[in-house]
Amino acid sequence: MQFPKPSAYAAHWAHDPSVVYLNHGSFGGTPRVVMEAQRAWRDRMERELVRWFVEEHWQAIDQARRALGVFLNCPWDSIAPIPNATQAVATVFANTRLSPGDEVLITSHEYPACQNNARWWVSKQGASVVVADIPFPIRSAGEVTEAILAKVTARTKLAMLSHVTSSSGLVLPVEEIVPALEKRGVRTLIDGAHAPGMVPVDLGALGASYYTANCHKWICSPKGSAFLYVRPELQEGFRPLALSNDAEKPKAGRAQFLTEFEYVGTNDMTAFYAIPDAIRVMGGMVAGRDGASGWTSLMRHNRELCLKGRDIICKRLGIEPPAPDGMIGSICTMVLPPHPSALRERLAQRPTKYHDALWDVLLEKWRIQVPIWTVAKTGHRTCRISAQVYNSVEQYEYLAEALAVELEAERGL
Ligand SMILES: Cc1ncc(COP(=O)(O)O)c(C=O)c1O
Repeated sequence: MQFPKPSAYAAHWAHDPSVVYLNHGSFGGTPRVVMEAQRAWRDRMERELVRWFVEEHWQAIDQARRALGVFLNCPWDSIAPIPNATQAVATVFANTRLSPGDEVLITSHEYPACQNNARWWVSKQGASVVVADIPFPIRSAGEVTEAILAKVTARTKLAMLSHVTSSSGLVLPVEEIVPALEKRGVRTLIDGAHAPGMVPVDLGALGASYYTANCHKWICSPKGSAFLYVRPELQEGFRPLALSNDAEKPKAGRAQFLTEFEYVGTNDMTAFYAIPDAIRVMGGMVAGRDGASGWTSLMRHNRELCLKGRDIICKRLGIEPPAPDGMIGSICTMVLPPHPSALRERLAQRPTKYHDALWDVLLEKWRIQVPIWTVAKTGHRTCRISAQVYNSVEQYEYLAEALAVELEAERGL
C-alpha cells in the first residue's frame, strides 16, 4: 500500500512529512503562521523587558482574555491564564476547603494527572475521592449521567469530569450533568483540556463553577496557553498555587483575581498572547459551509473526518464503534480485536518505547504516529485516532491496513 499524503492543509503545519501524524489529541499542533505570531510577541517583549512586564504584559493578556471570552461566551475577566490543564486542576483543588468525611467525585475516565491531583489534595484534608465508573465501550450518553448522579451523596462537595475524555475519547454530556450537580449543591470542575476548538463550548450556558482547557490542543495556539475559568462569585479569595509580588500590593481598579494570576513570577507568556492569532487563523482555515462560521465548519469537518476514519478502521478490523456518534468529536478510541489471554500476556512483555510494542511497530515500520493503550481495568487494547484538518482519509485507510497486518503478525508470535 502506498504511503498516504496528508490533506492540502498540511502545508500550514511544520510536520515531519515522513510521518502519518494521527495524534493531534496529545499535544495539538500549531500552524506556522501562529508560531510566527508568537515570535513577533516574543520580539516585542525582548526589545525592552522591563517596560514589557510593567506596562504591556497586562494589555496583551487582556486582549487574549477578551478573544477567549467571546469564543467561550463568558466574561473576559473570569479567565485566568495558566500554563496547562494539570496546573489548573491542582489550583482548583488547592482552593477547595474540605473536611474529613467530605467527598470529591470523579469519573473512571479522568486524565491520570488530574486523578493524581484529586487524590493528593483531597487526601491531605482527610476527605476522600469517589469514582463513578463509566462503561467503555458505551451505548448512550445517558449512562454517564446516571453513573455520576448515582454517586452523589450529602458529603459530595466537588465533582471533576472531562468535557472530552482523554484515552477513551468520549464527549461527555456536561450540559446535562453540570446543572444537575450544581442544583444539588455540588461544585463542578470541568476538565475541558480537549474541548474548545473540538466541540462548541458555551461557559455562560454551562454554569460550571470551574472550567479549564488547553488552547494548544484544538485551538492550535502554542504550548503553555491554557486557561482557568472561575465563576464570578467564586473568585474572591481564589488564588494561584504560587503568590508573586502583587499578592500583597493590590492594583487600584483591578480585581485581585486578575492581578495574582497574570503574574505568578517571571514567565514567557507569549503562547497565551498568541491565542487570538490562533482563533483567527484556525477560524479562517476552512471556508464556512451553509452559512456556518469558520469555526463551526472546521469542527464539523474534523468530526466528519474522524467518523470516516473510525468507520474505515472498524470495517477493516471487523470491530464495533465504541460509542454512539453523538459522543464522538475529533478523536475516537477503538477497542482492537482481542488476542487469547496467553498471547496477550506474552505480547505485553515485549519492550516498548511508548506504551505498547504495537505502537512502536506502527511508528518504526509504517511511520504512523498513533497511540495504542491498554485499559488496566478491562484489559481492552485500544487505538485512538485524531482528526485535524491536515489529515486525509487515505491516512486512516493506511492505518487500518497497518493494524490488520500487524495484528495478524502478532497472532503468529
Ligand atoms: C482530558 C485531559 N485533561 C488534562 C490533560 C493534561 O494536560 P496538560 O498535560 O497540558 O496539563 C490532558 C492532556 O492530554 C487531557 O487529555
